[in-house]
Amino acid sequence: ASVIEHTFVVSHMNVTRLCKETLVTVVNGQLPGPVIDVTEGDSVVVHVVNKSPSNITIHWHGVKQWLNCWADGVPMITQYPIQPNHNFTYRLNITGQEGTLWWHAHVPGLRATLHGAFIIRPRHGASSYPFPKPHKEIPIIIGDWWQMDLALLEKHFKKEIVDDLPVAATINGKIGDLYNCSGAVEDGYVLDVEPGKTYLLRIINAVLFSEYYLKVAGHKFTVVAADANYVNPYTTDVIAVAPGETVDALMVADAPQGRYYMVALPNQAPLPDPQIPVFITRGMVRYKYDNNHGEEEGDPSNDVPMVPEMPDQHDTTTSFYFHGNLTSLHRPQRTKVPVQVDEHMFITLGLGSFCPHGRSCEKRWRGKSMGAATMNNVSFQLSTDMAVPLLDAQYYHCNSTSSSDDGIKLYTLPDNPPRPFDFTNPALTPDASEAALLQRTIRATAVRRFRYGTVVDMVFQSTSLLQTDSNPMHLHGHDMFVLAQGRGNYNASRDVASYNLVDPPMKNTVLVPRIGWVAIRFVADNPGVWFMHCHYEFHLMMGMAAVFIIEDGPTVDSVLPPPPLNHPKCGHVNSLKAN
Ligand code: C2O
Repeated sequence: ASVIEHTFVVSHMNVTRLCKETLVTVVNGQLPGPVIDVTEGDSVVVHVVNKSPSNITIHWHGVKQWLNCWADGVPMITQYPIQPNHNFTYRLNITGQEGTLWWHAHVPGLRATLHGAFIIRPRHGASSYPFPKPHKEIPIIIGDWWQMDLALLEKHFKKEIVDDLPVAATINGKIGDLYNCSGAVEDGYVLDVEPGKTYLLRIINAVLFSEYYLKVAGHKFTVVAADANYVNPYTTDVIAVAPGETVDALMVADAPQGRYYMVALPNQAPLPDPQIPVFITRGMVRYKYDNNHGEEEGDPSNDVPMVPEMPDQHDTTTSFYFHGNLTSLHRPQRTKVPVQVDEHMFITLGLGSFCPHGRSCEKRWRGKSMGAATMNNVSFQLSTDMAVPLLDAQYYHCNSTSSSDDGIKLYTLPDNPPRPFDFTNPALTPDASEAALLQRTIRATAVRRFRYGTVVDMVFQSTSLLQTDSNPMHLHGHDMFVLAQGRGNYNASRDVASYNLVDPPMKNTVLVPRIGWVAIRFVADNPGVWFMHCHYEFHLMMGMAAVFIIEDGPTVDSVLPPPPLNHPKCGHVNSLKAN
């Protein structure tokens, strides 16, 4: 095992794409950011030097952070944000995981450009993969391009400027030839392949919203892992990947020599909003042209590249089956699904309204009072004048809120929605009458406390209040067993029978189907304060989130150790080192 050290210099710089200069926040001037490439058992040290004008933190998405919640990188939940001209060092231990994860800024908007792959290789080398050793391993990061300074996204959002949208999607930072400006096409991502060789594509969806379909014309994939957990090999010609999710897939270069488009297409719900354009991106798989045999062959670069036939842009079924087809590949060291469940929670994902002006608010959906996304009708909000991060407050028992003037206090996330209703009734749209609403949304720092080792069953039910969206729900510090999914209303007496307790996939991000549900189980065995939220940036900004506080266990090796020395103590935010 070795120590892998990186320095991430975060800066704000101008990048020209589509003929327009845009200010973007990046790490080491790279887009996507640097790859962290480690072997299971390694330690990773990342020195973050913030030379940007924004407060930032970096989150290591999917890294389990066993007894290391201090390095999870969520502002005011696990640490103070790293202020401009300040440094912070993250120390991670990579144990018990292998596969593709990623890192990203955990600050509204900046995730779109502050991200990179986090690859964990097996301790015993590529020959210990549960599949044939690939010739090459390639990260494929699906991103999006915004012609605005994303550091402003939250500010705009708070001022209810809601028409900020991306202008294009990207593969590995490249926009591709579907777009042009002044007659010149944009560069697309090119993957050069050798005939007959096998490539492991490590696919990451880093966009701010939208699930994506990925295809390569003339080729099939064999899915071998999802969220850094091996799955039983599954052959498909299309990959479905939601924001926060990762998929590892083998692709054999077994097509006739030539060029093949690789296309990423967002899967947006039916009821298309004509306002929202489709941000397709197109890269290319290009066969290495071998002229050494002296054969009379045309230069394949003159061939017309093949275009894949994509699913319909509003096709949610392909994604539903893609996710439903994942089953975990048993490896001896993996834990079995626990059968004894201690706590059951049923969580509705919806929209709500709150009144920013006190009790006298009349308009619920139209106008100023709109804008909350909820779990069981609670919309997560951290008080901006909170004195210390929640984790510190929990660890040192210091007060986490300096005042309650704004009415924000810790609030227990309820186990069930305030009252049951027909979650899929299309009448329950934002346009429906007030009577259709559950009740006024509560805005609070929603937390749920779990005793160490609690086995939790959780059903996420999406509601017709969000009928255009599926919701990728991400839990920090844990993987979840995905037991079952379905469409429409969850019905315990019917649906528990469909739970897969034999080989459910393990995910850190679980996609809740549009107007459907997903049932997960997880063991709350990592003491700390962990964020759980929708990985759509706007849903997160609107409060579709909660914090899970997991208590210390009974033994010395189940207790959260004190914070690293560089972590400021209660209320001493300025003790972060200025550079
Ligand atoms: Cu990848 Cu809390 O996020």
